[in-house]
This record gives sequence, C-alpha cells and structure tokens, in this order.
Amino acid sequence: MNKLFISNWKMNLTLAEGISFSNEISRTINKSIINGNIEIVICPPFISIPNCFQVLKSVAKIGAQDVSSMHDAKGAYTGEISAKMISDYADYVIIGHSERRINLKETNHDVSLKGINVIKNNMIPILCIGETETQRDSGEYISVLLNQLRESSKGFEKNMIVAYEPIWAIGSGNSCKTAQIIEISKQVKSSYGDETPFIYGGSVNEDNCKEILDQKEIDGVLVGSASLSLDSFSKMISLIDSE
Ligand code: PGA
Repeated sequence: MNKLFISNWKMNLTLAEGISFSNEISRTINKSIINGNIEIVICPPFISIPNCFQVLKSVAKIGAQDVSSMHDAKGAYTGEISAKMISDYADYVIIGHSERRINLKETNHDVSLKGINVIKNNMIPILCIGETETQRDSGEYISVLLNQLRESSKGFEKNMIVAYEPIWAIGSGNSCKTAQIIEISKQVKSSYGDETPFIYGGSVNEDNCKEILDQKEIDGVLVGSASLSLDSFSKMISLIDSE
C-alpha cells in the first residue's frame, strides 16, 4: 500500500485563501518527483472542498474532515452534510477526531454511524483514536485505545484506516516517540489484520515526518498545523521526495 500523507486544515483558511494555498500546494507537488509510493490527501473545510478539488485533482486526493451520522444521502437534518454529497469530491473522510469527540461530545456510536455512511458511498473512513495524557500515564492506554477502536468501527472494521492521534500530542509540539507509535500499530494490526492501514497524527512536522514514515509498521501521517505553512509543507514533501 502507498504511504499516506494527509493534511488536515481543520477550521482554517477562507475559500479564497484555500484556493490560493491549493495552487501553491499543486506547484510544490508538481516540482517534486514523488515516487509512486506516496498518496497525498488534502482535507479542507467543507465550504472549500469543490474548489480545492478542481485545483488539486491532478496532484492529490481530497478528504473531508467530518460527515453526517444522520443519513448517508439526504433528509431533514439542518446543517448536516451527507457522505453522498461529499463523495463527488472526496476519497477519504476523517471521523472521530478528538477535537469533535471532546468539543462536540461525539460518541463512539456516532462515529460508527458516520463510518457506515462513508463506506456506503465508496469512500474510506480515517478513524481517529487517541488517549489523554492521564490515560497514558496510568498505563491503561492500550485498553482505552482498543476499546475506542472496537466501539467506533462497528460496521466497517474491514474497511478503514486507523489514525492514532494521542490527545496529548495534537497541537502540542510534543510528538509521540516512534517506538510508542509502533507499539500501538502492532496492537491494532494484531487485532484487525496486518492489512489494516495504520497512520499517526500529533505534532508531525519536518523534523519527524521522515522518521515516522520510514517505519514499516506506520502507513502514513496525518498532519495539522505543520501542513498549513507552505514552507513546512514543502519541506515535508521534499523529504518524502528524497526517499
Ligand atoms: P497537529 O494536528 O499536526 O497540529 O498536531 C494533527 C491532527 O489533529 O490531525
């Protein structure tokens, strides 16, 4: 499987800024001679997806940052965006990000409904799991993570990318150590099969992305803030490029 480089813009960039950044990303990727082993996925806010798709379609895939759990296609659900609507543009959908679990009180059950809607529309769910610092320090993190994964992936266990995103590592500048990521990958792959893609997110940047991507147990990275700066995005791509 290709290694994945997934850029999560979160709630950043207006439509105009997103289009302009997409043009720069496209130029950067075009300049690099990325060997065929990397798939780049850009996840803009919903409002920018159609335009960014047009700019990026020859160099990258599109991912959505969320999707409705209510119905996979349509209905009276004010403010929701369905998997069917997204599927005109996106190949991937991030679900269960800790920022949504914490701020919007999303449950494992909600996440599982979202994943089912995603696969019904022929996209791939990127299912995020992660432990708090307290859970890691107490030593219970592996059971916390496996429980979260089991409950959130009901109905699409054979058809997902697992994104390990420790809550303490996201946006903190304090990335998980490579050996710690590998420990979780082994746990996930031994429960769900070696073929289940396992990626890592949480303060990935130009200093650590190559080392993480070089590990055979890690199938990709999910990058937030470092992927929003053209300078660090370009540096990460050129490191991948020099594989
Ligand atoms: P970060 O975010 O790279 O800014 O830590 C990663 C994520 O939340 O997906």
